[in-house]
Amino acid sequence: MATKIAPAEGKLGVLLPGMGAVATTFIAGVEAVKAGLGKPFGSLTQLGTIRLGKRTENRSPTIREFVPLAPIENLVFGGWDIFEDDVFTAASKAGVLEKELLGQLRDKLGSIRPMPAVFDQKYVKKLSGPNVKKNKNWMEHAEALVDDIHSFKKRNGCDRAVMVWCGSTEVYLEGSDVHQSLDKFEKGMRENDPNIAPSMIYAYAAMQAGIPYANGAPNLSADFPALLELANKKGMPVCGKDFKTGQTLMKTILAPGFKARLIGVAGWYSTNILGNRDGEVLDDPESFKSKEVSKLGVLDYILQPQLYPDLYGNIHHVVRINYYPPRGDNKEGWDNIDIFGWLGYPMQIKIDFLCRDSILAAPIVLDLALFLDLAQRCGMKGIQEWLSFYFKSPMTAPGLYPEHDLFIQLMKLKNTLRHLRGEELITHLGLEYYD
Ligand SMILES: NC(=O)c1ccc[n+]([C@@H]2O[C@H](COP(=O)([O-])OP(=O)(O)OC[C@H]3O[C@@H](n4cnc5c(N)ncnc54)[C@H](O)[C@@H]3O)[C@@H](O)[C@H]2O)c1
Repeated sequence: MATKIAPAEGKLGVLLPGMGAVATTFIAGVEAVKAGLGKPFGSLTQLGTIRLGKRTENRSPTIREFVPLAPIENLVFGGWDIFEDDVFTAASKAGVLEKELLGQLRDKLGSIRPMPAVFDQKYVKKLSGPNVKKNKNWMEHAEALVDDIHSFKKRNGCDRAVMVWCGSTEVYLEGSDVHQSLDKFEKGMRENDPNIAPSMIYAYAAMQAGIPYANGAPNLSADFPALLELANKKGMPVCGKDFKTGQTLMKTILAPGFKARLIGVAGWYSTNILGNRDGEVLDDPESFKSKEVSKLGVLDYILQPQLYPDLYGNIHHVVRINYYPPRGDNKEGWDNIDIFGWLGYPMQIKIDFLCRDSILAAPIVLDLALFLDLAQRCGMKGIQEWLSFYFKSPMTAPGLYPEHDLFIQLMKLKNTLRHLRGEELITHLGLEYYD
């Protein structure tokens, strides 16, 4: 039976804590698409199709025909940053999109100015900026963010809104006592508990204001019992963590292939050079630790060494990121993969991915905004595992291991859409064609 889905009427606010390279490439990109200056390549919501029924039925509508998504014409953008630059200036400084393209969008982008941020340098050591809120404790900060959200919606005539964290990677924090229940977390907010980081305040405020939350960075943010309790209480969908772009995207494409053909892996050495602000922030060992944990988990879960000890029981997996300013946002990711086949004979694969970080991340922000809005209109709440497709370190229910294989993630996403529309799930069994 199909799920009742509220219509996608009116404007949808997309609120972004962190208006740096990814956020501005996303906003400028959507405006460019609206103006007919480019195409939204990389976006499943804009270009993807979905097969329905049997292969013989030839039913493959586009995803946006199949489920009621907000049209990009109805998106309105806002956000927060510690720097005062409007989106045109920030996009020009980020240096991802060409000046000529940005020039054509100057009025639109120049009119979007970041609201003062909730920020503390303790959590992002390499940054400091003037555009920050001055409140006494985390709870007051959260209340100020809730006010920001309500006044943004009012000012822009938005019917609904979503929040996608595009801020810097915060230092590594593990879940502690203060994260275990909403009561403890709110007490910790009033007492400025040091285990609470700014991204958690944004996530808390989003849910309190009735808007879904996605986390594009690897920091904890909403991935602990207290905020999941709030998400369930408020009926808010949440997802994260850490956009799956460049090197990890490649890893989750290749590793399932090795496992499918029972090809062994002795080692996987990954290194990156990048020169944008994200690279500078990750040059701090404590922020890098958040990223490293997120990047390292992937292979273990895909290759399942506990089930295949001879093939994957002794992998040397190393991930390095080096800040190298000349490269800007155009990262270079090298992988050396030592594999082995029949009788243990060794082989090597080298990948040199000359990628553009924010070009890969922007369509993910768009899809997450539209799918989270859909989820809310369907009454879905808590962790949205079907959106794992977009993350390096997907959030899952406690005790459940995350699914990292990109192709299983895509099947999960599409089957969720089929389920919402009351269509048959596709299992790929296919015996019926040979009866
Ligand atoms: N580009 C990718 O491929 C990719 C992939 C995965 C994850 N990410 C993550 O996405 C995030 C954004 O990446 P980016 O390249 O745009 O980085 P960026 O440095 O260009 O932008 C981040 C912005 O966040 C702001 N900021 C930091 N703390 C803030 C706070 N508390 N409140 C408001 N603003 C705050 C910074 O001032 C900066 O402008 C990073 O955490 C990055 O690790 C990016």
